[in-house]
Parts: sequence; structure tokens; C-alpha cells
Amino acid sequence: MDWIYIAQLREHVGEDVEVRGWLRRKRSSGKIHFLSLRDGTGFVQGIVEKSSVPEELFNIAKKLKMESSIIVRGTVKREERAPGGVELLVKNIEVISIPNKEFPINKPDHGIDFLMDHRHLWLRTQRQFHILRVRHEIIKSIREFYNERGFVLVDTPIFTGSIGESAGNLFELDYFDYGKAYLAQTGQLYLEAACMALGKVYNLGPTFRAEKSKTRRHLIEFWMNEAEVAYYQHEDNIKLQEELVSYVVRKILENAEDHLRALKRDTKRLEKIVPPFPRITYTDAIKLLQKKGFSTSWGDDIGGDEETAIAEEFDKPVVVEKYPRKMKAFYMQPDPENPDVVLCDDMLAPEGYGEIIGASERIWQKEVLVERIKEFGLDLDTYDWYLDLREFGTVPHSGFGMGVERVVAWICGLEHVREAIPFARTLYRIHP
Ligand code: 4AD
Ligand code: MG
Repeated sequence: MDWIYIAQLREHVGEDVEVRGWLRRKRSSGKIHFLSLRDGTGFVQGIVEKSSVPEELFNIAKKLKMESSIIVRGTVKREERAPGGVELLVKNIEVISIPNKEFPINKPDHGIDFLMDHRHLWLRTQRQFHILRVRHEIIKSIREFYNERGFVLVDTPIFTGSIGESAGNLFELDYFDYGKAYLAQTGQLYLEAACMALGKVYNLGPTFRAEKSKTRRHLIEFWMNEAEVAYYQHEDNIKLQEELVSYVVRKILENAEDHLRALKRDTKRLEKIVPPFPRITYTDAIKLLQKKGFSTSWGDDIGGDEETAIAEEFDKPVVVEKYPRKMKAFYMQPDPENPDVVLCDDMLAPEGYGEIIGASERIWQKEVLVERIKEFGLDLDTYDWYLDLREFGTVPHSGFGMGVERVVAWICGLEHVREAIPFARTLYRIHP
């Protein structure tokens, strides 16, 4: 008898197969046990009917508890009402193990702290299964996007000797004789070096921010995808971002629609995500916010509530461009038409999911960059190599970083980013 994964059972109707997995839960009447089975690829119902199986098998099924590990053999039967279109008429159960304790996640209404404390087991539940499958597809499609366009993957370091983004939320550590090192807030500076060698480059890896804010959009450790292209300017950069985001959404609708449906995501809203995206300058965004009753003025940060209020006006992601240079990172190219603002953009997801991309054209003239590093109070010595990039073969270049968990939260329709990553690190949590 062949071992078949649940996701493929549909192709084996009428055959006897073996499923290796776990018992999610069980419903029993006196005459029949309904076993809800999972195997990592999907879910299927196994039926053990007293009248048609040996008594011994019926009694084994009776003894099974939630999260027993079992190998189940039986006949695949078409059942259009079942989620995967099939069920399994059980003929044999091989027990690998039955837990001694009750599985802790056994109610529909556990609180979030309890669930996060049991994240190692919570992962097994249906909703988490679908979210992690969508995350996997999102990351796969990001890589595909760059591969199809001739970008080169450049893995950037986690330990860094210079501040990548801002001094505000750094994880600092002692690094042998070097002194202070930091966990990467971004791989951007290294991608800038790499794009001068390879033209179009990207990375995808973990980044770290000691964020003291406890919001539904912030993680301490999150995954970022960054791209950097030599000779790209602000407009080229925005176009690339629009193409990436719409590509990812389209691929998910093509390859993971079942998972989105299981998560009850309204996919109609995702179908609208095609380029071009609406655009607004920071200056106009402030005016819009003021019209909507916010007391924000020019030069203020655009916080979470403000982002939601701006995004509400559009049914696609909105590109907010040209922020005041004082608010943004040191490396952003000033707008030649107005040096008080920089050639940057933040892309805000619709439906209140916040900033999914932070982007800019980079300063490429050495004197301007030196001045800016000093202005931001950063240690010029640690940027010697970064300044070299402006000495040898310097050219305009641009890039961006996309927060993977924010994109997962948006596409899946999650309330909080903590469910968008396998093991979330938040302000108060690093365990499990
Ligand atoms: O806007 P950020 O800070 O941009 C950079 O780090 C640039 N150096 C990227 C670049 O140009 N190469 O971060 C990029 C994105 C944000 O738009 C957001 O989606 C996500 O990373 N992000 C976070 N996601 C979860 N938790 C946090 N604490 C995040 N901080 C940023
Ligand atoms: Mg940002």
C-alpha cells in the first residue's frame, strides 16, 4: 500500500492508501468514529464504522486522543462536501504514540497569551497551517520575481559594524576586539556595495529592531526583502516596487487561493492589486490628514493611525513619496527641486495594514553623504567602506525593503503580525 500525502488523495479515489500523520480531533457516536486527520499537507476525515471494521480496530480508534500520531490505512472515497473532496474509509490504524496528557489547545476561545505560550503546538492548528503555507508561497514568489528579472541574490550579514538605518532601535553587542557591533536593521548598505558589482541584487533575511512599541505591526525580529539597482532613480524604483507587490499578490491568488479561502480572506480586494498604484506626496498626505481631522503638521511622523487614514482613501497600495529629509535615514538623496524633502517612498498597504515598503534613491555624491553622516551624528570612521562606493564608480542607485510579515498579514487578512511568522519575537516574548 502506498504512502500518499493528504494533498494528493484526490488523485487516488477508489484506491487503498496509507496516510502518515496525526489525529487532530475525534467525534464519536456509539457506531462510528470520525477521525479528523492531518499530515502537514492538508486535512481529511477518516471514518471508522463499527458495522464494517473488526472490533479491535474500532476499539483502537476509541482509545485515540488528540495529537496521537498514527498511520492510517484505508480506501479513498469521493465526498464533495468535504473540504478536500475526499474522505478515508479506515481499514487499519497503526499507533505510533498516544499522549498521556490532554492536548492543551482544545477550545475555540483560548486567549492570545495562552496560544503564544504554546506556539510550538499552536502551529499544528488549521488556521496556522494555512497562514504558514501562504507565507511560504509569498517568499517563493518574491524569489521568483527577482530570478525572472535577472537579479542576483546577495546574502547580507547579520552582524554589522556600522549603523544601517538609525541609532534609535539598535541591538548592540560586544564583538571581540572590534568593540560595538549591531544586529542588522537592514542589509541595504551591503546591497549598495553589491549592486555596483552585479547590477541588480536582492536579499531576503532576518533583520532586528529594538522596537519599544507594542503594536500589531511591529516585531523585534522580522524578515525583510531588499532590492538595490545601480543606475535606478526614484521613478524606476517605484515602478519596480509596484511590479513586485502586484506579482506577489497575483501568484498567491493563483497558487494559494484555497488557503486564503480557508482563512476567510476576501480575495476580491486582492484582485484589484494591479499597477499603477496611486501616489501622493508626503506634503499632500499631511494636508489630507488635516482635512480628516488629524492635528498632524508638516515635519511630523506619519504614525499607524495616520497611515490607516491615508490608505482608506484607496483600494490599492498607496505610494507616499518625498518625505522631509529630517525624518528619514541619512542615506536618502535630496530632491533637486526641493532639498527639504528626499527622493524616497513608503508604500502603504490597503485595509489598514500599514507600511509594507520603505524605499529611496541613495545619495551618490561623496561630499553630500559625508555631510549627512555628520549631520546625523553617526561615526564617520565606520562608514569608510560605504564612502568608497562614492569614490570608485559612483552612480545614482536606488532600492527598497519590504517587510515580509506585514505582507503576509495583509494578504492573509491577519489582525497582528505575530501570526505571520513561525516564532514571533515581540517586546515581551522570546519563548518559545
Ligand atoms: O522602512 P524600513 O525601515 O527601511 C529600511 O530598512 C531600508 N534600509 C530598506 C531599503 O531601502 N533597503 O523597513 C522596511 C520595511 C518596512 O516598510 C516594514 O514593512 C518592515 O520593513 N518593517 C517591520 N516589519 C515588522 N516589524 C518591524 N519592527 C518593522 N520595521 C520595519
Ligand atoms: Mg520605513
